[in-house]
Amino acid sequence: MTSKDQIKQAAKLLKEGQLVIFPTETVYGIGADATNQEACLKIFRAKSRPSNNPLIVHVASIEAAKELAIFNEDANKLATLWPGPISLVLPSAKNSKIAPSVQAGLSSIAIRVPMHKIAQTLLSESSVPIAAPSANISGKLTSTTQKQVAEYFADSEICILSDDMPCEVGLESTIIDLSTEQPTILRHGFFTQEFLSSYLNKEVAIAHAGSKVKAPGMLLRHYSPKCAIRLNASNIEQGELGLNYGDSQLESAFSLNLSVSGNLQEAASNLFHFLYLLDNYASQHNYKVIAVAPVPNFEVGVAINDRLSRAASSSSS
Ligand code: TXA
Ligand code: MG
Repeated sequence: MTSKDQIKQAAKLLKEGQLVIFPTETVYGIGADATNQEACLKIFRAKSRPSNNPLIVHVASIEAAKELAIFNEDANKLATLWPGPISLVLPSAKNSKIAPSVQAGLSSIAIRVPMHKIAQTLLSESSVPIAAPSANISGKLTSTTQKQVAEYFADSEICILSDDMPCEVGLESTIIDLSTEQPTILRHGFFTQEFLSSYLNKEVAIAHAGSKVKAPGMLLRHYSPKCAIRLNASNIEQGELGLNYGDSQLESAFSLNLSVSGNLQEAASNLFHFLYLLDNYASQHNYKVIAVAPVPNFEVGVAINDRLSRAASSSSS
């Protein structure tokens, strides 16, 4: 459990150009002072992240966001959802102090105001914008618990802040691109297409794999556990472990249920952690496949299925 003094100490490290891992309401982030190029380059090295994949910048308030990007009417409306699990892609402000590696050469910038108390305190104590991708090795499962991040970065000296709780939302923020004519969802998350389109009172598109690359990260292998993933399973086969949802009955030596009561938000919050637990059990006991029961494809279920299908295609290729 992190104390206020530890957060202050971490804020000092950030200002000195060090990395800090911290929880947000979505997932854990690995952060650096977004105005310090050397510090931001450390993120790419620590994660083995390709340099063409830009980072999300976290700020303390809408006002701070407005120093970094140009807000249109839609952006002003969606900024009322902050603090919260949504990142806005906007044209970056002229003369912004953001380090060039953060935007990876794009003229737009992704920004969000996180809701988690530790993230907020870190931002206010450091008074710098914090560039922070998810705290995992590139391509691997995203971390939603302190244990998982500590394993990924065990060989480094990076400071880890934690409240000892799993991240509440459990999936990375919804990313919506407002830098073009039509608002376009680049990554599914807690806020759905339906919700955003009614909030903006206009159509919101979804970027598809074949469309022009807008979220470079979405093209990469993502969320790959060591095991293969078999989706929409209705039975367990030899060598498989089961990941259930609701009343599904995939029973194996070790199986888990994302949400016994069929609550999609609970399932989202458990997803990465349960995949991690099953994957660890599988490598210790020689299982090769995680069979996943169908998860309804509405509300946050769309984002859950998005992550699952990426995990499935990464792990089997
Ligand atoms: O919930 C979250 O968003 C977490 C927490 C830590 O805040 N962060 C996170 O960052 O998921 P990361 O790096 O794992 O994902 C950022 C995504 C990448 O797919 C990247 O390509 C995209 O955001 N991105 C960043 N800047 C962009 C931009 N200017 N235009 C389009 N996509 C951008
Ligand atoms: Mg990520």
